[in-house]
Amino acid sequence: MKDQDSIFFKNFSLMLGFLILLTIVLAIVGYEMHHSLIDSNDMTKDRSAIAKSIQSVSQVNTGEAIVAVADTAAEEVTVAFDGTLDGKTIYDNVCMACHNTGAAGAPKLEAAAWTERMAVGIDGLVTSAIAGKGAMPPRGGRADLSDEQMKAVVEFMTAGF
Ligand code: HEC
Repeated sequence: MKDQDSIFFKNFSLMLGFLILLTIVLAIVGYEMHHSLIDSNDMTKDRSAIAKSIQSVSQVNTGEAIVAVADTAAEEVTVAFDGTLDGKTIYDNVCMACHNTGAAGAPKLEAAAWTERMAVGIDGLVTSAIAGKGAMPPRGGRADLSDEQMKAVVEFMTAGF
C-alpha cells in the first residue's frame, strides 16, 4: 500500500509539473501572438484605423443638403415684386447681376455705356430688354416682370444719361 502511494505521488507530481510547464508555455505563446497581432494592425496607435474598420458601409442622407438647395432655389423664384414700379428694387434683385459688373458686355450704369444705345429712345430700349438681346435673356430672365415694370427699370437705369 505504501509503495502504491509513493508511485501515485510520483506520477501525480510529474503530471502536475508537466501541466505547470504547459501553462507557462501557453501563456508565453499567447502573449507573443497578442502583441504581434496588435503590431500588424497598428490599431492601438491609429484611432482612425479603428473608426474605419467599424464604420457603417453606407451613410443615411438626412436630406439636409437637398432641403438647403431647394430653399435657395425657392428663394430665387419667390423674390416677388408685387407689381412694384420701383425700378431700383427690381434692378437690385434682377438686372444688377450683369449690369453692375458689365458681365458679357452688359452696359453698366454709366453714361458712356448708354449714350449710343439711347438713340433708339427709352421705348426702344424697353422693347429690346423685354425681347432680350445678345447675352441678355428676355426680361433679364424674369418672365414675371410686366412691361410696365421693365419700363420702370430701364428708366431707372438710364436716368440722367
Ligand atoms: C444675364 C445678364 C443680364 C441680366 C440679368 C440683365 N441684362 Fe440687360 N443686358 C445684358 C447684356 C449682355 C446686354 C447687352 C446686349 C447687347 O447689346 O448685345 C444687355 C443690354 C440691356 C439693355 C440695352 C438694350 C439695347 O437695346 O441696347 C437694356 C435696356 C437692358 N439690358 C435692361 C435690363 C434690365 C431692365 C434688366 C433686369 C430686368 C436686365 N437688363 C438684366 C445682360 C443682362
